[in-house]
Amino acid sequence: MLFVCLGNICRSPTAHAVFRSMVESRGLSGQILVDSAGTGDWHLGHAPDRRTSAQAAERGYDMSDLRARLVEPKDFEQFDYIIGMDHENISNLMLIRPADYTGHVELFLSFSQKPENRDQTVVPDPYYGGENGFSLVLDLVEDAAAGLLNHIVAELERGSQ
Ligand code: 4NP
Repeated sequence: MLFVCLGNICRSPTAHAVFRSMVESRGLSGQILVDSAGTGDWHLGHAPDRRTSAQAAERGYDMSDLRARLVEPKDFEQFDYIIGMDHENISNLMLIRPADYTGHVELFLSFSQKPENRDQTVVPDPYYGGENGFSLVLDLVEDAAAGLLNHIVAELERGSQ
């Protein structure tokens, strides 16, 4: 599972930390590889934005080990699911997706469990906004991460039958 946004310091690291925590709680860390990356190179090697990690810490998610990196061609070999936060992320991924990629490139909120979140379609970029943009990101991410994990678990169960 690779989560992708623009800077890899706000939205995709949030998805990375939340989804990783849910995967660990369900004892699936050995079966699901979780990572995140960005399509822009401004923050390479940087830890997540302080506003992002502060909000996440309030809800019990640790992102202190995460560092920004770019999406790379080999990500398409390694990940069956590459999840974008908004339409720009998806277009950028489509531009670099190898023609023979057989995995899934999807919008994160298409996995939302709450219809109002699914209708919102995109996780809005919080970088230039106020504090409540960051808690909105977490609200949207927690809901979509739970739905995505249920989807993956159902797929793993089908595969093992
Ligand atoms: P992210 O947010 O894509 O959620 O990590 C952003 C972080 C930095 C910038 C843009 C978006 N930036 O332009 O530096």
